[in-house]
Amino acid sequence: MRFIKTQDGSHTVFNQKYQEHYHTISGALEEALEKHVNAIGVEDGFHILDFCFGLGYNSIIATKKHKKLQIVGLENDIEIIKAIKELEVPREIEKEFAAFRDLAEKLEITDDDNNTIKLIIGDALVSLDSLPKEYFDRVFFDPFSPGKQPEMWSRKVFQKVNNIMKPGAKLSTYSCAKFVRQNMLAAGFKVLDGPIVGRKSPATIAIKM
Ligand SMILES: C[S@@+](CC[C@H](N)C(=O)[O-])C[C@H]1O[C@@H](n2cnc3c(N)ncnc32)[C@H](O)[C@@H]1O
Repeated sequence: MRFIKTQDGSHTVFNQKYQEHYHTISGALEEALEKHVNAIGVEDGFHILDFCFGLGYNSIIATKKHKKLQIVGLENDIEIIKAIKELEVPREIEKEFAAFRDLAEKLEITDDDNNTIKLIIGDALVSLDSLPKEYFDRVFFDPFSPGKQPEMWSRKVFQKVNNIMKPGAKLSTYSCAKFVRQNMLAAGFKVLDGPIVGRKSPATIAIKM
């Protein structure tokens, strides 16, 4: 796998099928921190769904300074999980990242702060059906873009995600596309602007009502 350095020094990958980078070129780490973890906040012990896990940056950042998180990651490409072993990460997340290097072999790891990361390999749209209702406190929603992968951003998908979130739970995503927000509203979410990072338009925060 060929890694590409983003502007904050962290690395991403280019996906040939979707002709899209896994992260914004302005910064993979910055995106995980600002559009996901800081945007919706994380507390010790939270249940987190990392929807489209990829290289796992959103979960890695979530585990920094937190303990006893229970993270479930959904991903259909084992090759990207294998690539985590080779990923060069900025010094500030080296410690958190160490445990993630074994994910491809183990699919479930627990780090020194008792954060557990469990991966379900397969189509996330199918895996969603196996998850418990009203369980998650936070969802990092991170498929390829709505233009490239519209089936991931449908009303039906947001309805399924809504069902497995606790009342008041929050979802973060980088897209602010109109049809995405309309589908979130139709699925019962309250929709707010997220932070503006690396581009002109805001990210999106959806709250289960
Ligand atoms: C934009 S990247 C996610 C970046 C990731 N959050 C990270 O920090 O590296 C989208 C990811 O979704 C995965 N993906 C695409 N379609 C999927 C599907 N139907 N089910 C599960 N994963 C899927 C891709 O393999 C890719 O890893």
